[in-house]
Formats: sequence, C-alpha cells, structure tokens
Amino acid sequence: MNAHTPISAALPFAVPASRWDDAVAATLSPAELLLYRSNLLGGDLTVTNFGGGNTSAKLEEVDPLTGEKVEVLWVKGSGGDIGSMKLDGFATLYQAKLLGLEAHYAGPDDDDKMVGFLPHCTFNLNGRAASIDTPLHSILPFAHVDHVHPDAIIALAASSGGEAATQEIWGGRIGWLPWKRPGYTLGVMLRDYVAANPGVAGVMLAGHGIICWADSAKACYEHTVRLIADAANYLNGKLAGKPAFGGQAVAPNPDRAAIAADLMPRLRGFMTGARAKLGHFSDDAEALEFTGSVDFERLAALGTSCPDHFLRTKIAPLTLDPARLQDDAYLAQKIGEYRDMYAAYYARCKRPNSPAMRDANPVVVLVPGVGRITFATDKTTARLAGEFYGNAINVMRGAEAIGEYIALDEQEAFDIEYWLLEEAKLQRMPAPRPLVGKIALVTGGAGGIGAASAARLLREGACVVLADRDAASVEDVRAGFARQFGKDVVRAAVCDVTDERQVQAAFDLAAREFGGLDILVANAGIASSAPLEETTIELWNRNYDVLAQGYFLTARAAWPLLRRMKDQGGSSVVFIGSKNGVAAATNASAYASAKAAANHLARCLALEGAPHGIRVNTVNPDAVIKGSKIWDGDWRTERAGAHGIDAGMELEEHYRKPSMLGRDVLPEDIAEAVYFLGSDMSAKSTGNMINVDAGNAQAFTR
Ligand SMILES: NC(=O)c1ccc[n+]([C@@H]2O[C@H](COP(=O)([O-])OP(=O)(O)OC[C@H]3O[C@@H](n4cnc5c(N)ncnc54)[C@H](O)[C@@H]3O)[C@@H](O)[C@H]2O)c1
Ligand SMILES: [Zn+2]
Repeated sequence: MNAHTPISAALPFAVPASRWDDAVAATLSPAELLLYRSNLLGGDLTVTNFGGGNTSAKLEEVDPLTGEKVEVLWVKGSGGDIGSMKLDGFATLYQAKLLGLEAHYAGPDDDDKMVGFLPHCTFNLNGRAASIDTPLHSILPFAHVDHVHPDAIIALAASSGGEAATQEIWGGRIGWLPWKRPGYTLGVMLRDYVAANPGVAGVMLAGHGIICWADSAKACYEHTVRLIADAANYLNGKLAGKPAFGGQAVAPNPDRAAIAADLMPRLRGFMTGARAKLGHFSDDAEALEFTGSVDFERLAALGTSCPDHFLRTKIAPLTLDPARLQDDAYLAQKIGEYRDMYAAYYARCKRPNSPAMRDANPVVVLVPGVGRITFATDKTTARLAGEFYGNAINVMRGAEAIGEYIALDEQEAFDIEYWLLEEAKLQRMPAPRPLVGKIALVTGGAGGIGAASAARLLREGACVVLADRDAASVEDVRAGFARQFGKDVVRAAVCDVTDERQVQAAFDLAAREFGGLDILVANAGIASSAPLEETTIELWNRNYDVLAQGYFLTARAAWPLLRRMKDQGGSSVVFIGSKNGVAAATNASAYASAKAAANHLARCLALEGAPHGIRVNTVNPDAVIKGSKIWDGDWRTERAGAHGIDAGMELEEHYRKPSMLGRDVLPEDIAEAVYFLGSDMSAKSTGNMINVDAGNAQAFTR
C-alpha cells in the first residue's frame, strides 16, 4: 500500500481453487492421501491459518494384536500445523472404542472427563496425543471429515447475519449450530443435527468455523475448498465498491516504520514481567485498513471471535492514540490500564478451580496510521499473534458486511483461556532457554568471533541482529543462521561502525524487527601492524575510527534502548577488546593503543551505565587464528614479520607455544565468554575483563 493512498475499497477475501493433482494422488496410500489433502489445505493460507483446523479419515487397518481388520480413525493430533505436518502428526484410534465412549458421557459437564478416555482408544501404540476435536471426527458417520477456520468462513460464523447468509449461499446444504466450545458435547450436537437433517454436507459452527465431509479424500478436499470459495465470493459481492469499516479516518503515515522503531522499545520497557518480550511490527494492508478506519475503536474493543484467534491475541488489543506516542507517561498509563482491565476480566470470570492469573500485558497493540505491533515470549509467537490478528481483521470486515460482528462471549473466552487441560499442557512445557526474550546486536557479526558469538546467543534463545560492513558476508551468515535457528530470530544490517547514520539505522532495525535491545556485542574490528616510524596518520586514524570511535558510536546508539530494560533485569554491553589492549605489543602501536582506548571506554561506560542497569564488560581474546578473517590478511604476514617467523603453520605454533596452557584459542571460546557476560549469569558483574587467550602472564589484569 502506498503512503497516503486513501483506502477507497475494502480488501477482498482470497478465493481458493483446488490444487489436487490426480497424478500425485494415484501414487499414495489411503493414509498418505489424508496427509496430501491436509497439506494441500494447510499449505494454502486462503484456506486456513497457521495450525488451524484438522482433518480425518476412517481407514481399515490390521490390528497388530489380533491380525484382524479394524476401522481406525486417523485424525490430526494435538499441536502442529496441517500445512507442514507429516504422517506422524496424526493420532490413530480404534473407531469402535471411540464410539463406545458414549457410555461414559452423561452431559455437557463431562467434556473434560471425556478427554481422559481418548488415550485408551489409541491404535498401534501411536504416541501422538489426540486433540479435543477428535470426537467431532469420530462421532460423525462419514469416511472423510475436514474442520477448518478460514477467514471467509469465520466471517459468516461470527456475524449476526451469518445464519441467513449460510441459508442464502447454500440453501440448506450447509447447516448451522450455535456456539459451543470444542469437545465431546459439540460432537454429540453435530451427530444429532446431521441425523435430524439428512442431506447436509457440512455444518457452520457459530463463532468458530466449519466442519464438512465426503466419501473420498479428493471429494472431501474439493468440497472444503468449494465451500470456502463460495463464502469468499459471497462476501466479496457484499464488500464491493465501498471501503470497509465505515471508511478511512486516518491515512497511513509515511513515517510509520520509523515511528514503530521509536515506539516498540518504549512499550517493551513498560511491559513488566519475569521475562522481556519480543516484538513484531506489521503495517500490512489489513492492519492499515482496520486501524485507520472509522469503526476501529468500536470493533477493536470487542476482541476476537474464533478460539484460535483469541488464544493467540488475548481478550482484546490495546489501542493507542497516534498523537500521543511521544509521551512516555501516556504509554505507561495505557499499559497499566490494560493490565488492570485484564485483571478485572480474570476476577469476573474465574472459577473456584481456575489456574492463577497469567501475564496481564497486552499482546496486540494497534496504532491508527502506523499498524499492528504484537508482543510475546518469543519472536515466532509474536509474529503469529500478529498474523492471527490479521485474520481477525478479515473476519470483522466480512462479518460487518453482512450484519454485525459478534465476538466470543467473555466467560466462554475465559473458560478456553484458563481451561484446566490447557494449563496442564503449559505446566508440562520445558523451561525456556536462558536467553529467550533477549535481543542482541553483534557488530562485525559476519566475522569469526562475531559470528561465533551470535551463534552462541542464538543457541540460547536470543534474537540477533548481525551488523557488518561486508554486505555479502553478513547476508551469507544470516542465511546460514536462518536455516539453523529459524528465519524469525536473525536479521542482518549492513553497517559500517564508523558511520553514525548507518549505526543508528542498525539499532532502529533491532527496535523495529524485535522490539529493542538487551545485549550489545561491540566486536567489529580490524588489525594493523607497523613500526612507529612507518605508522602513517591514515593507518593510525583507521584503527582509531573503527576500534575506538566505532565502539563509542555503537555504545551511544545502543544506550537509549538498553536503559529501557532496567526494570526487567537490566542489559549488557560486551566489548571485544584484545590482549594488546592490556599488554604492550611490538610494531602495533596504533592497533594496541586503540584497543586500550576501547577497554577504558568500557570501564567509563560501566560507571555511567550502572544507574540504568546497564552492565559493561570486556572480553580480551588473543591469537584467535582459525576462523578469523583478520588472520587471513596482511596482519598475518605482518605479525609473522614482527616476530621473524614464517606466516604459515609456524605462526600458529608461535602463538600456541608461549600461551600458558599451550592451547589454540577458537572463536567459540570467545563466544563462551560473550555468552557469560551477555547473560544473567554475570548479573552482578560490571567493569570487568575476561581474558580468553590460553593464559598470558603479560596480560594479567591487576
Ligand atoms: N582474531 C584475533 O586473534 C583477535 C585477537 C584480539 C582481538 N580480536 C578482536 O576481535 C574482533 C573480531 O575479530 P575477528 O578475529 O573475528 O576478525 P574478522 O575479520 O573475522 O571479523 C571482523 C568483522 O568485522 C567487520 N568489520 C571490520 N570493520 C568494520 C566496520 N568499520 N564496520 C562494521 N564491520 C566491520 C569485518 O567485515 C568482519 O566481518 C575485533 O575487534 C578484533 O580486534 C581478535
Ligand atoms: Zn476448530
């Protein structure tokens, strides 16, 4: 969307088409056909959102115990995503045992109890847990069943005009059931509905989605896609020719990316809790259309409808006045009010056995003209929360086009959010890695020590911005880390640390892409070697520009982000110094004295940062030859020359031998110290140096 373009027409719903390929299908077993159909549905984001929906087939299998043929329900298991799942994502259960469960069911209060029986129906020791939607699939007497929540369908399901529209579109071929939380009772309701209405080919579930069926995998898939396309076409007809949400009240702000970069660290700083949060900004067309609309405040206050959306986005978003974003007191107050609102919701809705109240901070923050910012425990969750709110926007647009949007009832929402079985699942989750929630920026991140340090931080769960002047290398390293750690958690910034503007832009990127900064690793460096009389002013300045001024510029730009984190355990700056910053070096006066300047800068900043909770420490490497690009260049020959030895293996020997421990020092060894100083393990240390040099008495600090 262009800046300032007034939004004159509503965004349309995407209309899916069948992607079934008979040639592919011909090679597949019945179970593989179910997987194929599931992946086709889930891989098409116009069909369903991430993780959304489940699919099943009732297949004949041979019982491993008796050798007899038995009917087995293959149904998407708990967790995972139908778009990317594999065969092991399906739970398999004896269909006869599932049907027999009704003997244990006395009424709606038994829903939780019924979940406990599902594992008893497992076929073939399959370890994949059955989801709470399993009864919906088992009780319906159809071979192939799909249950999905595409936006166009939920738009009907969550509108006051939805039931009438369902009748108008499908004329009784698709039924309608009022809202009911997923579980055994909903399964029974469905079965009874179908028995009373023979000939229906699917049922709309109010406030939720649709369930539909057919006799073969292909027919079921094409039926599902057709129903979604029908709904989308119908809504597009209603939306055509006019803007959505009552028209535009606030135009997209052309500076919105910069505004987000400024705003996010401040919001993040005000969101107190055990761990800092990760942010995700989006100014996609949905976000701008909705937040800038006339109906924005009214609709935002209603919250989301589909349980899938709601669980990711919380009861309602926080909305901010774009004219007051500079005002910290306003932001703190708004977040405080949100937390109070959430606590009041908890108090109103809680039941005697409800789990304790969870994090009360907002997940979704909406700003007219700017877009949508989401915060969560990690980057992927924050991104998905944003995408789910985008789905919710689509739902509201469609729902309002045919009637009034209906959000999920508050008590129903609460019962889903604080469902005891969900709580049990949360309790079983492993503790997060130590740096989950932390954001780091590593200068010289494309180099040996920088990349190793970044990898160490990523491995412990941090999000990392790699900042380096070498554009090709930094992109290479980013792409490698994206493959290794996931594309959500790493970004690259082309940045020369001697250029004030580029430095600022790298930190703005950290703020906009992740929400702020907790750890700065100032590492970008060069090395040079020359006797004093051959040290030109140009060589001298080059060392000071990168190693002294560069560290100053990066620390100064990081400061406003780092000081925001005081109430959340503080933040950390790690300088990569050098043995030569402590111990004098022959023929390297420019390099060594610039390193000494950086070492002392770290101590000054430790003093200045302490009141803001910013710790500043230094790691002094020495002779990290393998993996370092510094040692690929002139420095190698020059140092060899300075010591009167050969630049090949002899040089590595030369450095290893005199070290007290007699061992090579690797980039990974430096990274270990960076991790220690960057993390809360060193929460009580500032103004320190750690030498990682295999032992060098000359460099002992005192
Ligand atoms: N390797 C060693 O033996 C050793 C010893 C002591 C100190 N150090 C220090 O460790 C740090 C990293 O060195 P390394 O061994 O990984 O070297 P390296 O050459 O492998 O990595 C340095 C990285 O910094 C980048 N860089 C250089 N100038 C930059 C600038 N102006 N702006 C942005 N990026 C810039 C380079 O592109 C490179 O990717 C340096 O500060 C160095 O002085 C290294
Ligand atoms: Zn569902």
